[in-house]
Amino acid sequence: MSSTRAADRRAWLRQALDQQPRVQLASLPTPLEFLPRLTAALGGPQIYVKRDDLTGLAFGGNKTRALEFVLGDLLRQNPEVLVTGANIQSNWCRQAAAAAARLGIPIVLILRNTEMQEIQGNVLLDLWLGADVRFVDEPDVTAVISRHLDRVVAELRAAGRRAFKIDPWAPSVAIGYVAMMLELQSQCEAMGIHPTRIWTAAAGPTHSGMVLGARLLDWPVQVTGVAPIQWTDESMEAATARAANAAAELLGTEVRVAPQDIDTQAQYMAPGYGRPSPAGLDAMQLVARTDALLLDPVYTSKAMAGLIDHVQRGLLGPSDVVVFLHTGGLPAVFAYRDAVLEMARGGAPDGLTREVSPAATV
Ligand SMILES: Cc1ncc(COP(=O)(O)O)c(C=O)c1O
Repeated sequence: MSSTRAADRRAWLRQALDQQPRVQLASLPTPLEFLPRLTAALGGPQIYVKRDDLTGLAFGGNKTRALEFVLGDLLRQNPEVLVTGANIQSNWCRQAAAAAARLGIPIVLILRNTEMQEIQGNVLLDLWLGADVRFVDEPDVTAVISRHLDRVVAELRAAGRRAFKIDPWAPSVAIGYVAMMLELQSQCEAMGIHPTRIWTAAAGPTHSGMVLGARLLDWPVQVTGVAPIQWTDESMEAATARAANAAAELLGTEVRVAPQDIDTQAQYMAPGYGRPSPAGLDAMQLVARTDALLLDPVYTSKAMAGLIDHVQRGLLGPSDVVVFLHTGGLPAVFAYRDAVLEMARGGAPDGLTREVSPAATV
């Protein structure tokens, strides 16, 4: 693409994004960093990381970019109380609680907690941030979103409060990642790098924003999403394309994304949503000890496991330049203490060495 055409595309997209209601929550741009030791250890593509774990709002993460647009839209209705929900270790809910605190709006979080898990990680932060946390016993997370959020909103409204649901699948959710693509493309240009692949953990909205962003920028980079969860019976590809097209409509473009434009890798999900995988734990260990990059056990570790597997199988090679989008999720690490500790010990009986100083033995 000629540089004038690229500049025109960017100017158009910047203007379309500027017209969206938005509330500033993230510290942007997030850094784009090279991972030299991981690159050398794998001996395949050059690997960079886009640090969206550093978006800045109460431990950061990808959902902060989404909330800028979703809440920007909701604020026009002057909410008195917000309601959202998901799993007990939801990063979405933690970032929503932090955003609500920043905006000075009370928030109710409906969290699925079937096993009465310990108050740790994200849910500890939710309480610290002042959210009204309510647990429900539901078999799966979609039931929380489809059943309980509207019920609680209705109850609050019946009590005379202007309550609104923050919908994790709102049409504006994907726009944050359309904007991220603009930011990333400028950074790549400034650093003189030409990614062939963007790789991330993706359950829908984030992936859809990136695919749409690449299309709107005419950027020939393949976006691959490693799925941590299968939300519904609808295919990930169809759901992701639908989310991209809802965002395209809001941005006022005719461009549309088809399910076949979506590259989803669903084979790294096992043993299931919210459950760390052996390959994911190995990936967590490797990147911590090569480039001091910390990943989470639910999303980003499985995405990195997929990336490593693709390099090992020769599907990504030295001619590739990969940007790994780090979507955050780190507070959950503390709710997975046993798995992380076992990984860190690497099989040693207790992995801890106690040195006794001579003075202490006298
Ligand atoms: C750390 C992390 N990574 C990735 C995702 C997937 O994001 P999305 O649902 O926007 O695709 C989530 C979703 O909660 C997340 O918390």
